[in-house]
Amino acid sequence: MTDKKATLTIDNGQGSVDTFDLPIHKGSVGPDVIDVGSLTAKGYFTFDPGFTSTAACESEITYIDGEQGILLHRGYPIEQLAEQSDYLETCYLLLYGELPNKAQKDEFVYTVQRHTMVHEQIRTFFNGFRRDAHPMAIMCGVVGALSAFYHDSTDISDEHHRKVAAFRLIAKMPTIAAMSYKFSTGQPFMYPDNSLSYSANFLHMMFGNPCEPTVISPTLARAMDRIFTLHADHEQNASTSTVRLAGSSQANPFAVIAAGIAALWGPSHGGANEAVVKMLEEIGDISQIDKYVAKAKDKDDPFRLMGFGHRVYKNFDPRAKVMKQAADEVLAELGIQDEMLEIAKRLEEIALQDEYFVEKKLYPNVDFYSGIILKALGIPTSMFTVIFAVGRTVGWIAHWNEMISNPYRIGRPRQLYTGHTARDFVPLDQR
Ligand code: SDX
Repeated sequence: MTDKKATLTIDNGQGSVDTFDLPIHKGSVGPDVIDVGSLTAKGYFTFDPGFTSTAACESEITYIDGEQGILLHRGYPIEQLAEQSDYLETCYLLLYGELPNKAQKDEFVYTVQRHTMVHEQIRTFFNGFRRDAHPMAIMCGVVGALSAFYHDSTDISDEHHRKVAAFRLIAKMPTIAAMSYKFSTGQPFMYPDNSLSYSANFLHMMFGNPCEPTVISPTLARAMDRIFTLHADHEQNASTSTVRLAGSSQANPFAVIAAGIAALWGPSHGGANEAVVKMLEEIGDISQIDKYVAKAKDKDDPFRLMGFGHRVYKNFDPRAKVMKQAADEVLAELGIQDEMLEIAKRLEEIALQDEYFVEKKLYPNVDFYSGIILKALGIPTSMFTVIFAVGRTVGWIAHWNEMISNPYRIGRPRQLYTGHTARDFVPLDQR
């Protein structure tokens, strides 16, 4: 709370004027918020479709300054975490608020590694899907079904249950993701190898086979780990807000994370990384870029430059900068000359000099370059959003747990109703 206040004066146009004060709350950084909770008693709702100006909760996990292009996880800049930390250490930070010491980190990694397997019955789940099922469809189904198996970690009022569910989800998401890929190829599922790091184990389960030892390049494992870190959390984005809303009804953690996966799937959100690669493939050649930039600017053309623009960032998404640098490094390391990366770089150059994008402050976001690295790692396009979901699971859990472990109420927005007012039923023979 601050001494600042907002004074609202409502003039109903017929001589009646009502004035009342609304308290203003101040965070540790970022915009102050006007507490509008008392408006309902005054007979008013606020109106903010898309929640552009709405702070839906209080949180200590992640801070974004969209104008400056700043992203902090528990105060640590994403650039430093991506460069100096690793994904499981970032998971610890997001969940518990501080970087772990050596003993804490070793215990956390050990515990995650011992939850990587899924119940053997879950392996039969996959047989119910067509081989060409989109892996995100499988993820929605299988992750939601985990609540049918782990009854000993679904009591959300029990802190131990919440902790076990968190470990199970962080540990099993890569396993289920790799299974959804293997299922599409007709190859056998690979069991986790707990002697490997989190990201190396994921690549092992994705590309290994039972007929020969898996050789994982440390460069690729490091690139995969950095991608998970860059996707770990991002404040109150659409899927995290979905997780908070689903969690506010006291649904079990597996159902809540499945809701987050479903929300992430859309091309306006996590599905954009898959859409970026499809767009770059459609552009096909640097000579076609101007045509597609013109399409993106044409109000009558639904085409948008995928991987560009953001609700919050009106500057470079800091994750996109790290991703672009990683793309250069990985492709150079692998000796890959990817025409798609050249098209992406040229597209970025042209767009950032174009008045339309400059005026609307449209910059590359996290999804613009991620697909290029994932493609270089051998990940099929249909798995890109699945990778995003694996990385983001810890962010969803951190926000869910932050809400559940503090006083909360079920989320229940209101509306501006513009439909019919009350009217009497008309019998069929009178219509
Ligand atoms: C993610 O919220 C998060 O934090 C998300 C995320 C995370 O980590 O969780 O960062 C991950 O979802 C990144 C965004 C991935 N999506 C895409 O790359 C899809 C392409 N981008 C757009 O669809 C759009 O920019 C959104 C959805 C990302 C943001 O939409 P907004 O905030 O609702 O903005 P808007 O649609 O109102 O656009 C503002 C203007 C519009 O023009 P006008 O109507 O004002 O004339 O900019 C235009 C839009 O037409 N515009 C674009 C554009 N994005 C916005 N024009 C062309 N190409 C684009 N990509």
